[in-house]
Amino acid sequence: MSSRTSKVSTALEAVVSGIRLKHPIMNASGILGSNTGGILRLIESGVSAVVTKTLTPEPREGYLPPITIPLGECMLNAVGLANPGIDAVNELVRTIHGHGLPAIVSIGGRNAGEFVALAVKAEEAGADALELNMSCPHTPGYGVDASKTIEAVKNIVSGVKSVTSTPVWVKLGYSRLLLREAGAALSAGADALVLINTIPGMVIDVYTGNPILTNRFGGLSGKCIHPVAVYSVYMVYREYQCEIVGVGGVQDWRTAVELIEAGAKALQIATAFYTKGYGIVHEILAGLTGFLEEINAKNITELVGLAHRK
Ligand SMILES: Cc1cc2nc3c(=O)[nH]c(=O)nc-3n(C[C@H](O)[C@H](O)[C@H](O)COP(=O)(O)O)c2cc1C
Repeated sequence: MSSRTSKVSTALEAVVSGIRLKHPIMNASGILGSNTGGILRLIESGVSAVVTKTLTPEPREGYLPPITIPLGECMLNAVGLANPGIDAVNELVRTIHGHGLPAIVSIGGRNAGEFVALAVKAEEAGADALELNMSCPHTPGYGVDASKTIEAVKNIVSGVKSVTSTPVWVKLGYSRLLLREAGAALSAGADALVLINTIPGMVIDVYTGNPILTNRFGGLSGKCIHPVAVYSVYMVYREYQCEIVGVGGVQDWRTAVELIEAGAKALQIATAFYTKGYGIVHEILAGLTGFLEEINAKNITELVGLAHRK
């Protein structure tokens, strides 16, 4: 583990579903978490836990390039859940635990039965939490497709809860059904919600009229979705006062604090690793420490949900 990581102030400690994190910043699923080399890179960046790429029952190659379009501080992607399949989970968890960090295993099935089977394998591998991907917007059969009714959300979460004692985090995207989906997940036993996934989007080459992504449309991420993430976290926290991990456009200490004040106990980052580089975690941690000193707060948990007390 990097020596800079061990210097993180105890004022930044966070706890999500009983998992103690030395600070609130994790990677978001989809960033480097599908092989040992990528995971070592994430650990070196200073994250407090590693979230794996979403693992599906079988390996998936995903779509042919182009699968990502850089849009300044944002990005449109349709990777198509390319991943090594659930059988890679043992090696991924072993690597993460070998560096003393919690392993959050993201899983994605096409129905409750597949989610249950994935959960069993991830728990056997020693996952510290299971993150159920119910929100990938661009891979037919998975994500939003697998959870397209409130009934499906309930069945998947209660199915997984019935076979595991590992904390279950449910990752949702923004839609007008968000509050109902969040309520269904929580009443089925979700220990925390992860908000939000990418938002559907599309880019067209105006000269040819061709959609640029091979999949035609994809998921928008980064700075431009941050206000949507803040809104989503705020609305869900206001309704349920549940444990939330905030994701979407975190790229500096201020965007991190906004999500925390909306109600998030911890945060995940994807796009800013691409747009700002691997120093992003330490930059944010330094900024958070400075901010706590500036406002005379003892620790970061004092700020969780602050916007609701105003
Ligand atoms: C290239 C790429 C791949 C992603 N893959 C996954 C994935 O496998 N599973 C998942 O739940 N989310 C995936 N996401 C969504 C991110 O985890 C995150 O929810 C989203 O990008 C918003 O965070 P950001 O603004 O920090 O990027 C992916 C995002 C990107 C940009």
